[in-house]
Amino acid sequence: LLPSNLKHIAIIMDGNGRWAKKHFKPRSFGHKKGSENVKKIIKTCINLELKTLSLFAFSFENWERPKSEVNFIVKLFDNFLDTEAKNFVKQNIILKISGDLSKFPSYIEEKCLKLIEKTSQNTGLTLNIALSYGGRQEILNACKNLCCDFKDSKIKIEDIDFKAINDRLWTSDLEDPDLLIRTSGETRISNFMLWQLAYSEIYFTSVLWPDFNELELKKAIEFYKTRERRFGKV
Ligand code: FPP
Repeated sequence: LLPSNLKHIAIIMDGNGRWAKKHFKPRSFGHKKGSENVKKIIKTCINLELKTLSLFAFSFENWERPKSEVNFIVKLFDNFLDTEAKNFVKQNIILKISGDLSKFPSYIEEKCLKLIEKTSQNTGLTLNIALSYGGRQEILNACKNLCCDFKDSKIKIEDIDFKAINDRLWTSDLEDPDLLIRTSGETRISNFMLWQLAYSEIYFTSVLWPDFNELELKKAIEFYKTRERRFGKV
C-alpha cells in the first residue's frame, strides 16, 4: 500500500480539546482519547511498514497553557512511557525524542533517555516524538552550536552548508518528512519541523485527532500518491 517514496510521515495531532467539547467532556478527556489514538496510529504505521513517524505531542508554546492542563498532559506522557516501554521493545520501535527535554521534570527526561537507549538497537519503525518542541527554537539551538564550533575552530565558515545545520538539529539522524498531516481543520505549520518540511507534501483534514483512525490515515496516503514531487525542478 505504501508508495516507495513515502518513508516519513509527520503528524500535528490537533483537536483534542474540540473533540472533548463536542462530547461535553473536559479537555483532559480529549487528551486521554488523543493519547489512546497515538497507540493505534503507531500500530497502523508498523503494519504499513512505514520507516519513520513523527508526532507533535507538545510544543514549546504549550507550556503557556493553564498549569492543570500542562500537568495532565505531562502525566499522560509519563503513563504512555511506562505502559509502552515493554511494547516498544516487542514492536521493534526505535524511539527518538526531539525537543528541549530539560523543561520537563528530570524523572521524565531520565525515562525518555533510558527508553531511547533501550530501543536504539531495534530495526523497525522509528518513532520520533516532538516534545517541548519548536522549529525556531531548534534552528536557534543549531546556530548556537555552530557558533561554538566555529569559536573552537571545529568548523570553518566555508564549510557551513545545509548538512552542517541539519547535523545540529534535534532530528539530525532522520530523513525529512515526505508527508505532513495536520488534523482538526487548522491550516498552519505552527512552528513544527520548519527546516525539515521544506519539500514535504501537506495534507489537512478537518477530522479531530481522537477520530483520526486507520481509514483517515489511508486517505492521507492516497492524497500523497496523487502528488508529483518536483523538489523545485520541472
Ligand atoms: C492538540 O489538541 C493536542 C495537544 C496540544 C497535546 C497532544 C497530546 C496528546 C495527543 C497526548 C499525549 C501524547 C502522547 C505521545 C502520549 P488541542 O488541545 O490543541 O485541541 P484544541 O485545538 O481542539 O483545543
